[in-house]
Amino acid sequence: MTSVKTALASFDRVSLDFDTPNGPMTVVEDVSYDIHGGDFVAVIGPSGCGKTTMMSMLAGFQKPTSGAVTFEGRPITGPGSERGVIFQEYGVYPWLTVRDNIAFGLGLKANRVPARECDEICEHYLSLMGLSDFANSYPKHLSGGMRQRLAIARAYAVKPKFLLMDEPFGALDAQTRANMQNMLLGVLAAEEKTVMLITHSVEEAIYLASRIVVVTARPARIREIIDVKIPYPRSEAIQEYPEFGELRKYVRGLVMREYRAQQVQNRPASFSE
Ligand SMILES: Nc1ncnc2c1ncn2[C@@H]1O[C@H](COP(=O)(O)OP(=O)(O)OP(=O)(O)O)[C@@H](O)[C@H]1O
Ligand SMILES: [Mg+2]
Repeated sequence: MTSVKTALASFDRVSLDFDTPNGPMTVVEDVSYDIHGGDFVAVIGPSGCGKTTMMSMLAGFQKPTSGAVTFEGRPITGPGSERGVIFQEYGVYPWLTVRDNIAFGLGLKANRVPARECDEICEHYLSLMGLSDFANSYPKHLSGGMRQRLAIARAYAVKPKFLLMDEPFGALDAQTRANMQNMLLGVLAAEEKTVMLITHSVEEAIYLASRIVVVTARPARIREIIDVKIPYPRSEAIQEYPEFGELRKYVRGLVMREYRAQQVQNRPASFSE
């Protein structure tokens, strides 16, 4: 028997062109895939290939030039509180304190919670992210890694159904990064969520994701979608499993080919070997 699972989100033959001084540039081309509730999709591909652009369409910040991006069966017309975004650059408001940044989303109409609950949620995430001592500081007084943790806390606090994370751990040191990855797995074990995460780390993609979408050099097309069959809950021990190593080798091979193709593309036209 085949069970028909309806997708939570889907890309259906999606392309996007940007206008540039040299004419239109195709950044995403003919991308189709479905994301089901509970999926953890990691997107990996070379710098500048179109990953953030792809995610922006799901977040509702960009519209496809052709094709459709849908959420719960309807075309996406703009941002929504059920889709929480963690931006590649720190998504924090410089004019609000650390605590008020976390509380911000909880004051919006779509997510409003009573003041006491808001306080509890803020305390919880301040402590989880190691920011309790800086609750009343402003972002400019935080380090880069702390600002990034604040951006993560802000997105988690409103408990969106769908988390869209654009290189959320890229600016963190290796230990904090591992910590944040484990914390994310913990959040996902406790709350049913769907995730799209952009990363440059093959290990991070395999450790966290249920599916890895490898995209090509610009324009971003689907190179391959790989199922990560290692069951959840996952712990760091899985990184020693033979299947982890085999998958890493395979995904690295795919990704490296695209990184090289992107490098060639980025060379000035006059450059010759
Ligand atoms: N608003 C825009 N207008 C014009 N061009 C844009 C715009 N946003 C992105 N681009 C271009 O689209 C291409 C893809 O950008 P995008 O940010 O999606 O790449 P990316 O895969 O996320 O790269 P990275 O890994 O470096 O974050 C780049 O060449 C970029 O210059
Ligand atoms: Mg990007």
